[in-house]
Amino acid sequence: METILAPSLLAADFGRLGQEVEEVAKAGAEYIHIDVMDGMFVPSISFGIPVIQSLRPFTDKVFDVHMMVEEPGRYAGAMKEAGADLVCVHQEACRHLDRTLHQIRDLGMKAGVAINPATPVTTLEWVFEQVDLILVMSVNPGFGGQKWIPYAKEKIRQVHERLCVLGLEEQVRIEVDGGVNQDNVTEALEAGANVIVAGSAVFAGNRTDNVKGFLRKFKEYKR
Ligand code: DX5
Ligand code: ZN
Repeated sequence: METILAPSLLAADFGRLGQEVEEVAKAGAEYIHIDVMDGMFVPSISFGIPVIQSLRPFTDKVFDVHMMVEEPGRYAGAMKEAGADLVCVHQEACRHLDRTLHQIRDLGMKAGVAINPATPVTTLEWVFEQVDLILVMSVNPGFGGQKWIPYAKEKIRQVHERLCVLGLEEQVRIEVDGGVNQDNVTEALEAGANVIVAGSAVFAGNRTDNVKGFLRKFKEYKR
């Protein structure tokens, strides 16, 4: 599976979000990572459905919506209408995870499940077949610009191993999110991640150069 870069808009300039999306998409980012926060599941409030809707005309790249929201199933229909392609919900935020994942897929979107740093990979045992993506958090969610937690690497490795055993490694993507930069991205790739989220490492400084830098790292790694 080819590696995909997913710039996180949380670190973008909110005054010119549309142009920011266009810029990273043009530079080669395949996913646009959109962090929705409700002030309950995580301490911060970021942005919600109307913002996603107004960004939709700016690109046809995949809108990868990371729902840091309690009971995100409540918003599945609205997410679809706003133009989300992939909706990733937290294992810890869903009382009925199986139902929520089906709800997302039934609406024609891809479904992802995220786990916080302290949540074991084994909690996903019965949903591997229900998802298109597994997101391993490498920081505690809620804020951009935090430091990468080294044990995330071992968790990515565990997810990868389990997917291989189940024969799902070509169907289910592994995403890593939090504190990823061009210096530590190789660790995530080595462990088996193939969707790389980067907020501050893309939106601090020249966006185009940063995206291209990541894409170069991905290519080098393949060699
Ligand atoms: C954290 C968010 C991340 C974050 C990534 O709660 O889910 O997507 O914005 O930002 P960096 O790359 O700066 O850690
Ligand atoms: Zn995120």
